[in-house]
Amino acid sequence: MSVVVVSNRVARAKTDEPIAGGLASALIPVVKESGAIWVGSSGHGDAAQMRESFAKIEALGKGALATVDLPAKHYRGYYEGFANSALWPALHSRPDLIQVTADEYASYREVNAFMARALLRFNGPDATFWVQDYHFLTLGAELRRLRVGRPIGFFLHTPWAERSTIAAVPHHADLVSAMLGYDLIGFQTDDDRRNFEDYLHYEFGMSAVDGAVASAYGLTRLATFPIGIDVDEFASRATKAVTRADVARLRASLQGAKLALGVDRLDYSKGLPNRIRAFDRMLDLQPELKRGVALLQVAVPSRGNIRAYRELKADLAALVGEVNGRHGEVDWIPIRYLNKGFAQSTLAGFYRVAHVGLVTPLHDGMNLVAKEYVAAQNPFDPGVLVLSSFAGAAKELDAALLVNPHDIDGMARQTASAFAMRLEERRERWQTLVAKLRRSSVQNWFASFLHALTETRHAPPRLAASRNGAAPILVDIGGTARTAQGY
Ligand code: UDP
Ligand code: G6P
Repeated sequence: MSVVVVSNRVARAKTDEPIAGGLASALIPVVKESGAIWVGSSGHGDAAQMRESFAKIEALGKGALATVDLPAKHYRGYYEGFANSALWPALHSRPDLIQVTADEYASYREVNAFMARALLRFNGPDATFWVQDYHFLTLGAELRRLRVGRPIGFFLHTPWAERSTIAAVPHHADLVSAMLGYDLIGFQTDDDRRNFEDYLHYEFGMSAVDGAVASAYGLTRLATFPIGIDVDEFASRATKAVTRADVARLRASLQGAKLALGVDRLDYSKGLPNRIRAFDRMLDLQPELKRGVALLQVAVPSRGNIRAYRELKADLAALVGEVNGRHGEVDWIPIRYLNKGFAQSTLAGFYRVAHVGLVTPLHDGMNLVAKEYVAAQNPFDPGVLVLSSFAGAAKELDAALLVNPHDIDGMARQTASAFAMRLEERRERWQTLVAKLRRSSVQNWFASFLHALTETRHAPPRLAASRNGAAPILVDIGGTARTAQGY
């Protein structure tokens, strides 16, 4: 089997650079170890819109990285427009932030069709395509249109929101019916998969039978594959990181104070303003903690051409300034706020130094930072993870201190308890957490998805029932549900 992984964002295996997001960070090790080909955007537009536009193919461990120049004319509408100003807000349950035009949808479809044509060069007799994330919801259908008959899987790294929220996306029915061109659709959590099934049931009258639905494309299996990390690799990075300059300086600067750490892209899904408000509230409620604690918030700029992101950056800077101004002293500032990224080899050291890891998104697909924080702890003196119950990771990491990111007082109290937690409880919680992490490594995620994709293709075709239990519903590429006779 020759595995072709496809995503918008790709990353090179440089150890001294920050990685942009969980998708890229998860794929680097598995592509390197498995020998897969990873195809993605070069980040440069191709003004000439050449059909064969591979900018570069380079080695990545045992695998390869192939980057494509996507058509310049459509790139903005596809990436900043439909993907990140319609799909991303809807998938993260923020339909109020949807701002999109018909041209941007057209660009999204154009780029998906373009990528499908570019992938034809990898369509060998043993090829298996595995498409990643919301940038390419319709890529499977485009490949089928080009008569690619090989297995095609799809994994969604974000949540899949409730039916009525997805219905707020213009052209939602076209998009979801095109997704049925995939043989297997993978989700981070059972809630996401159930939301998708609810959508199919309500909008198309389709019900899953044995975890699969039937459409004009054939069977599509729906399943959950929580993504993980390589625990030992992260633990070893954390022990090595103590000698790195930034890590040593951070530790020395604490002068005995306890550190809470947040590491996030500057994204409205991450709940950053509420996290700052909760830290502020904690200092109000327990002023004796002043000087004894500090918060380091790494907030990596992201998608800065989009208004919602620019506004968040400005609002957050003002909020941090206001809180520091109110609580700070000439020789003590409660919040250290940084707008830059760090290499994972340094981050691992920050995680280990931090007594508390604050991961409090309003809604998040998985959140690898939460897993990395746990993996990086000193087993004899572990820190405490404070985790939003709306992160996908909360389903597995329920031994963390779970918080409601909308409840500022509750978060303030839990953060104070995390700082005060006794060693015995910290160890107990950490051992439970790390045992869970070991059960769902990124290597397991990769292998189990590909195994399920192969199984799906070999399973005898079975029909899914329609709403009224009569003939199965077929959905065609135009998105109109129709009942087929004799399918
Ligand atoms: N990351 C990094 N440098 C930074 C901040 C983050 O390399 O300065 C990496 C981090 O180690 C993690 C990923 O970016 O692997 C973030 O993934 P997560 O799932 O937590 O959030 P996402 O950004 O995908 O929403
Ligand atoms: C999330 C998405 C990824 C994306 C990453 C970084 O993790 O699920 O698909 O690559 O954020 O976002 P960016 O827009 O910089 O690629």
